[in-house]
Amino acid sequence: MKAKILVNKNFEIGDIDKRIYGSFIEHLGRAVYGGIYEPTHETADDMGFRGDVLELIKAVDVPIVRYPGGNFVSGYNWEDGTGDKAKRPRRQELAWKSIETNEVGIDEFQEWAKRANSEVNMAVNLGTRGPADAQNLVEYCNSDRDTVYANMRRVNGFDKPFKIKTWCLGNEMDGAWQMGHKTAEEYGRVATEAAKLMKWTDPDIELVVCGSSGYYIPTFGKWEHEVLRHTYEYIDYISLHQYYGNHENNASYFLSESLQMDGFIKSVAAICDAVKAEKHSKKQVNLSFDEWNIWYHSNNDKTEDWQVAPSLLEDLYNFEDALLVGCMLMTLQNNCDRVKIACLAQLVNVIAPIMTETGGKVWAQTIYYPYLYASRYGRGKTLRTVNTCEKYTAGNGLLVPFIESSVILNEEKRELVLFAVNRNLEESMELELCFEDLGELTVAEHIELYCDDLKAVNTKENEAVAPKNLEVSSNPSTAHTVTLNRQSWNMIRFKY
Ligand code: AHR
Repeated sequence: MKAKILVNKNFEIGDIDKRIYGSFIEHLGRAVYGGIYEPTHETADDMGFRGDVLELIKAVDVPIVRYPGGNFVSGYNWEDGTGDKAKRPRRQELAWKSIETNEVGIDEFQEWAKRANSEVNMAVNLGTRGPADAQNLVEYCNSDRDTVYANMRRVNGFDKPFKIKTWCLGNEMDGAWQMGHKTAEEYGRVATEAAKLMKWTDPDIELVVCGSSGYYIPTFGKWEHEVLRHTYEYIDYISLHQYYGNHENNASYFLSESLQMDGFIKSVAAICDAVKAEKHSKKQVNLSFDEWNIWYHSNNDKTEDWQVAPSLLEDLYNFEDALLVGCMLMTLQNNCDRVKIACLAQLVNVIAPIMTETGGKVWAQTIYYPYLYASRYGRGKTLRTVNTCEKYTAGNGLLVPFIESSVILNEEKRELVLFAVNRNLEESMELELCFEDLGELTVAEHIELYCDDLKAVNTKENEAVAPKNLEVSSNPSTAHTVTLNRQSWNMIRFKY
């Protein structure tokens, strides 16, 4: 089949905020203990962080990591994870019915983030706790005054403030499963008061208010509207969360879910703008898609309750998952004018691109690769393209183009990067690319992720799904034709 993309250098969607390549570490399962932290592991550093895991994370260049939850944060006492490790309490953790030892807390995590060349996106507990505790945590992390929580940090060995810029006002507060679940009005009020105290403590921070915990939640839309009516002038972003699954084993339908994600983003942006209009406000609230991924493979796994670091939510991702994750990353890039933060949920072991064996190996899941390339090469501006491509019908009459793509201009590197998935499961695609106002371009590399078997997974012994460097033509030209294999993800880098 044939398709065409017209690229003009001047048609910009916007600048990409690198934080859209963020991720998430929750005190859940083996994300922290046995994931990023394992003092007895042969690669552990002086603080007990696994060096092999850190290397795979650093390769992606993850700019920001949300912490410590998730559902976990709604019952969390942040003080438990500070100071002398020998005195830290062991607690029952109600969100995941596990035992939390508190061996790792903000004292350690902010140091891990530095070692990962990343920033912390810190969530506060607005479930079982409230504005005062959130204020205290901001003081502990960011203040250099001679006051109680800043001094507590100094006593714990950290003279300099951690300077955490991005903060989440709780987590999924619309969900009945959440500790301290609230109505939109209750949450809107408490989030406003927490936001005031937190920003009065440190005016440089940015705040993310909780949107719905998913598009399909019955209160979606009404929740955003009500919460924003309370908080609009006090916050900077509203959160979106969405997980997908190939529940019906229909790959063509599954691969169309990035279109649903696109619609979700546009709906939330529209609600923000409606509240802006109602308030006659000059301010624009942007979006933080701070939980997104595929989550369904582990749904029926059984684990005993009340263990330390049980194996929870350990989805083994296959090749079709990597294709959809690739499409979702393009959706985030194509919405970079509104989405400023996004977190692939999560980073290690728990619905994650990186898996470990406690005491053993680390390996990259299939979804690691589209994430790695998007983060490393998807920096700059997204361009608005004109695509001509056949469409297919997937479920409910939805029309889906066979190609999903994004085009990123990196002026610093004089590079143009095309990310593309061919959703056609039978036929390869001859893709014609026409460039305007860019002069002649040469192809620097074409990386492909392809596998015959949509269900192939990577394991610690066998990497069935890995990127390949394809041969490229070195002729400079204003138009190029490339072939995209059937069911493949691709990154093509051009120099101009
Ligand atoms: O990422 C796993 C869980 O999914 C998070 O704890 C919660 O916020 C969401 O429901």
